[in-house]
Amino acid sequence: MSHYHSVHDPAIEGILVSAEGIADIVEDLGRRISADYAGKDLALVTVLRGGVIFLADLCRAIDLPVTLDFMAISAYSRGGGAVRITKDLDDSIAGRDVLVVEDIIDTGLTLNYLLGVLRQREPASLAVCTLFDKEVRRLADLPIEYRGKRIPDRFVVGYGLDLGGRYRNLPFLASLHDEVMG
Ligand code: PRP
Repeated sequence: MSHYHSVHDPAIEGILVSAEGIADIVEDLGRRISADYAGKDLALVTVLRGGVIFLADLCRAIDLPVTLDFMAISAYSRGGGAVRITKDLDDSIAGRDVLVVEDIIDTGLTLNYLLGVLRQREPASLAVCTLFDKEVRRLADLPIEYRGKRIPDRFVVGYGLDLGGRYRNLPFLASLHDEVMG
């Protein structure tokens, strides 16, 4: 019987950010957010599915009484054209301090749409925290208050990011061999 080990997965080219590297970034972001939102009513909002891995670690690095809520949208990157909400938040964000938590920002189109939707609901404040930023790919200009790390324009998986639904559970960020993407 063969056993799977991600370090020997032939599709994986190399580790771009180690688990320890990610943990350091998350701790740092958590400290900054805790300081900035002290005394506020912080609502963490995450986009399914990839963002949940980052959210799970980030919320435990924030030493404040936060709430967690989730949205799902049909993304530009998945089909092109119109974006729509496929799962909305469960709770109202009116009057609350909302921080949108993303695993990665690429073109920025997903977030651009989402921020527009959330702004209409009149939160007290609205800001963005992303772990990874593929800034060279940006099409929509976005304010990013909390950025973990800029990464190059490579196809990456792990720590929430997937290829065909897989690899989200890798504890590190990895690049894939070009052949894998066909
Ligand atoms: C990723 C990521 C963002 C979006 C960023 O989600 O979590 O939501 O893409 O891309 P953009 O800046 O080009 O809009 P994805 O669509 O892969 O969905 P998933 O989290 O379910 O994998």
